[in-house]
Amino acid sequence: MSERVRLIRKDLSVGMTVPWNIYDLEGRKLLGKGQELRSEKMLDELCQYILFHDLPDVQHAVYKDGHGKLNAFEKTSDNIARIERIFDELKGQSDCTDKINSLAKDILSLCEREPDAVLAVIHIEHEYPYVLFHPLQCAYLAVLIARRAGFTDDECSCLAAASVLSNVGMRDTQDRLIGQKEALNLEQTNVIRQHPETTVEMLRAIGYKNENVLTIILEHHERCDGSGYPHALKRDDICRGALVLAIADRYGSIISCRNYRRPLSINEGLQHFFLDKGEHYEVQFSLLLIKELTVYPPGSFVKLTNGEIALVVSRGKMSPMEPLLKSLVGKNGEVYANPLVRDLSMHNFEIKSICGYHSEKLLNFSKIWGYI
Ligand SMILES: [Fe+2]
Repeated sequence: MSERVRLIRKDLSVGMTVPWNIYDLEGRKLLGKGQELRSEKMLDELCQYILFHDLPDVQHAVYKDGHGKLNAFEKTSDNIARIERIFDELKGQSDCTDKINSLAKDILSLCEREPDAVLAVIHIEHEYPYVLFHPLQCAYLAVLIARRAGFTDDECSCLAAASVLSNVGMRDTQDRLIGQKEALNLEQTNVIRQHPETTVEMLRAIGYKNENVLTIILEHHERCDGSGYPHALKRDDICRGALVLAIADRYGSIISCRNYRRPLSINEGLQHFFLDKGEHYEVQFSLLLIKELTVYPPGSFVKLTNGEIALVVSRGKMSPMEPLLKSLVGKNGEVYANPLVRDLSMHNFEIKSICGYHSEKLLNFSKIWGYI
């Protein structure tokens, strides 16, 4: 399968310095990485072709600003409080554009500096309400996929903002659905199907003007085969940001515990995208999700062949099959007072399987990840 992603006019703009090489259907290079799209005419000429861009080789943990570690668990708690304030201000119809921009920038910075801990936050059980945590979970995952796809910083910030805001137009319905066990009624179904448009209207009403963010929100439930809503767009009419958010949104939702169904395991979640084969979700972005998470993403619990239960702390530097672990429970069920570091590249035991684990005592993730 080609390591190239389809590119449409909505993904390009005049003045943009393109972060990848752009090719036509025959593989001819039309524009090189780092070149500027100088004029509308240049953009028109380029868009006469069916366009693709290549994928950059992204390594883990790109420390851009070099200010040392950020505690991803503390920052997440802070981000949840910021999301709650933004939602309240939107409800009160206050212009909170600056707060949205600042949160998006901080999400991007955290994902760049602490990608392993951010992945752990996405997967570890927590106490935050779903309506606040899910937007942040989507933003983290969408940015991690987007970095691998070569999105620019500005595109990543737009994606983070869109992820946080995408469902605000159906917040009241979401709150009511939390306690509901029966199927959705007609009115609820309509609210859900209209929420991309309702959200965009709500944001325009407070003076929010970032068209790139609004387009991602409007298209985040469109699907490649045209089965999505609100406009049943097909793959080549959906912007890249919305394609990435659709994957982050779906993955976050299926691994989360909801009152009407059990969460799927990480493997089942990834299999969902593997089996989709581009029907609903863009294949290359689905593959980037699988690549980013690896077989044992940080935050997953695993059973070892020596009988211990361990927590995956970071992805393997040499091999995805050899992540860095911290063992929490011994083979006889004894809980270790201090988790033991297990580097599989240096031990003669292996991971047997991913497993569930419920601790009687609240685990101190900041300590396990070495922040304190
Ligand atoms: Fe949504």
